[in-house]
Amino acid sequence: MSQPIRKIGLLTSGGDAPGMNAAIRAVVLTAAAQGIDVIGYKHGFNGIFSNEYQQIHRAEVLHIIQQGGTILKSARCKQLEQAGGPEQAAELLDKNGIDALIVIGGDGSFRGCQAIAPFYQGQIVGIPGTIDNDVDGTDFTIGFSTALNTALDAIDKIRDTADAFERIFLIEVMGRHTGYLALAAGIASGAEQIICPEYGEVDINDLLQDIQQIQQQYGRSSYIIVIAETMYPAGATTLAAELTRASGIECRACVLGHLQRGGSPVGSDRILATKLGAYAVEQLLLGNAHLMMAGEQAGLAVLFPLSLTGDKKKQADPYLLDWQQRMLQDSSPAKE
Ligand code: F6P
Repeated sequence: MSQPIRKIGLLTSGGDAPGMNAAIRAVVLTAAAQGIDVIGYKHGFNGIFSNEYQQIHRAEVLHIIQQGGTILKSARCKQLEQAGGPEQAAELLDKNGIDALIVIGGDGSFRGCQAIAPFYQGQIVGIPGTIDNDVDGTDFTIGFSTALNTALDAIDKIRDTADAFERIFLIEVMGRHTGYLALAAGIASGAEQIICPEYGEVDINDLLQDIQQIQQQYGRSSYIIVIAETMYPAGATTLAAELTRASGIECRACVLGHLQRGGSPVGSDRILATKLGAYAVEQLLLGNAHLMMAGEQAGLAVLFPLSLTGDKKKQADPYLLDWQQRMLQDSSPAKE
């Protein structure tokens, strides 16, 4: 396992996230400083099967820190999930002389790493990159902060038009089955309601009651609901129509969708990506990082077992969850 490392394979996998390029840059520059080649595989793990790879030279990454997306392209990989897929991937990596593989992605991508590992002679290390922030072992994933800012930019604009028309707005944000993005976007935008898995299912009657109470207290005004995708199976647009019917107030839906995945990474994502990219390479060279993820906890770079990254033990801040709800309760008397 501790063979000298001359060639590192690198790929980005799963949903792309702003800051993946910054992580690629950090990996390539850190490796180059040690005289190690980095071979970039295209389209996630698919590039291993299709032999789509090429060396990434230092000069190619010098000016990509500010770019969204990923220069290596990303994808999910069906072939890796099929019988014999992991064995074949490992064989191809060994055949290409890849001494270690670094995968930038989420916990699904890290499951792919673990599937390959028993058949592969080199080390495998993960770097958490996903806008969902749903990876255990790291306080933040690369891309989350940018996606949050993008969502806020959109919600702030929607607040203007919602105020002008005194409408209810439902804004659907991404996050797969977790509410990190919805909670953060809801709190930071001053939304009246946040609907996310951590708060449980949507109860339309409770929602209506809250809207009516606020209108009684303060008269007509805008009312913003940030909702995590998957929380209303029929979709935010259907929920908006139902709320309009039930409340008599115009309610509109806005699904932010893939907008949240794009754009130039914010400073904190660039810094996190740079730190974790460099740390992953350094720990690899020290022989510490096999089947580990390079994450960040309490501001420090740490190694965390890849096998635990999908345990879903990471919790949305309970203090914020509680206060968001209590803060908006109003017990003052109704408006005359
Ligand atoms: O994991 C990132 C993510 O953007 C999720 O928030 C979302 O549920 C999913 O990917 C969307 O996937 P796709 O790009 O395949 O539609």
